Amino acid sequence: MSETSRPAAAIVLAAGEGTRMRSTRPKALFPILGRSLLGHVLAAVRALDPEELVVVTGHRRAEVEAHLAEIDPAAKPVYQTEQRGTGHAVRAALEALDAERRAAGRPTLTGTVLVTAADTPLLTPRSLAAMVAHREQTGVAGVLLTATMPDPTGYGRVLRDDSGRVRGIVEERDADPAHREIREVNAGVYAFDAAKVRAALARLTTDNAQGEEYLTDVVRIFGTEGEPIAAAVLDDWREILGVNDRAQLAVAAALLRDRKNTALMRAGVTIMDPATTWIDVDVDVAPDAEIWPNTILAGTTRVAASARIGPNCHLIDTEVGERARVRDATCENAQIGPDAEVGPYTYLRPGTRLGRGAKAGGFVEMKNAVVGAESKVPHLSYVGDATIGERTNVGAATVFVNYDGVAKHHSVVGNDVRIGSDTMIVAPVTIGDGAYTAAGSVIVEDVPPGALAIARSRQQNIEGWVVRKRPGTRAAEAAKQASAAGGPPAAGGTSGRDAGDDASR
Ligand code: UD1
Ligand code: CA
Repeated sequence: MSETSRPAAAIVLAAGEGTRMRSTRPKALFPILGRSLLGHVLAAVRALDPEELVVVTGHRRAEVEAHLAEIDPAAKPVYQTEQRGTGHAVRAALEALDAERRAAGRPTLTGTVLVTAADTPLLTPRSLAAMVAHREQTGVAGVLLTATMPDPTGYGRVLRDDSGRVRGIVEERDADPAHREIREVNAGVYAFDAAKVRAALARLTTDNAQGEEYLTDVVRIFGTEGEPIAAAVLDDWREILGVNDRAQLAVAAALLRDRKNTALMRAGVTIMDPATTWIDVDVDVAPDAEIWPNTILAGTTRVAASARIGPNCHLIDTEVGERARVRDATCENAQIGPDAEVGPYTYLRPGTRLGRGAKAGGFVEMKNAVVGAESKVPHLSYVGDATIGERTNVGAATVFVNYDGVAKHHSVVGNDVRIGSDTMIVAPVTIGDGAYTAAGSVIVEDVPPGALAIARSRQQNIEGWVVRKRPGTRAAEAAKQASAAGGPPAAGGTSGRDAGDDASR
């Protein structure tokens, strides 16, 4: 941003209760696309690099301030002890800033003060910068952001005189039917001259439907004092959408989703169904990646070039390598290597690392598991707390039995190992390179490299048991027919005739 668009101070209002959300959570902390409403606004404001950044807190102040310390520790919270309106909030912020500067022996704040609410998450740095630049270049007392809305219900309406000059703002609750017809609304975003807004704020009254000090009255006060004010009119009203209830929250989320998806598509990402693809603002997707329908990419997820994600994936803080394929999967804090394959119906939990070309197939769950390059866990398995080498195959229905009821234990499987189907690997064990385990084994001891481990009881066939013990059943009939047709005798060790006798017993 240029020098003329750098405000001396920015004030973000986040003290209100957000009554219309009907929640115990402060409105500013509602998340969309991986950021709080406040976080979205701060990101736009920070892009202008204001010298001072103040966030006014009040309702559930402790939670809001803790969140602020996390996402923007350099921002200064100012506590508005009672929520007596948006004008009162800005007054509190300026008084705190002035007092702090006085105490530090710094000169009183001059120049442009940018004010926004914390509930307009679609604001762009571009619009904010244009407002600040406009105020700096023209020297007007204030620039307010407006747009014409298809449905202006709930917003303050912009009053203009016959020559089109802005004269004031009337709130929905103070508006008469003629005012309500006006579709140009106040965004609640202003670039003010510091000294002039300080003076106007001192003259606010609570003479209105809500008994509050309205920041919007500053516009009328400027007008009566002959102070020029300007409106920056946006072409796209969506940018100033305010979130006051959960219906507006959903609209704002969908708009932010579209914005992110469009940016990615323009950058070379294929998004098959943008309406069902939710990608958090901080997620990176490289060109030529393909996102199939019903997919959520959340948090700090990174998707490399030519990977294909979806349909039906939920990836949280997960890294996906080039050309990897992930479908019908939930992955959290996982690393999926290049050319790896995940899904369908796969759950990768924190600490999973799949090497190049590795596979986690259908109905496979992994946690804290490192799977080496080209190793495969194709079906119905649980791999928890394990390190698996390269080119190893884990047969269907294998379980890494990592929990003894008290503590978790870790197992190690080497390179080029063949784990037979339905092997229970009771941790902690080590299975050496090139070893095999027989299907159905319960491995409780280490297996040396190259050994075949069989850990199951031998099979015993009790011949003729069905005909003797389950006479008259379909199974017994089938057994008799099989033996009559020249198969093994239906009643072990005895003749077919005896078997018949047996069955009639
Ligand atoms: C406000 C504007 C309205 C504008 C709309 C745009 C006023 C009086 N009205 O209405 O003209 O069209 O925004 O979205 O300014 N807050 C405080 N302290 C308070 C009261 C509010 O910090 O004492 C904060 C709230 O947390 C919120 C912001 O100020 O972030 C705006 O308050 P809100 O109640 O949402 O105002 P609106 O009715 O939306
Ligand atoms: Ca609002």
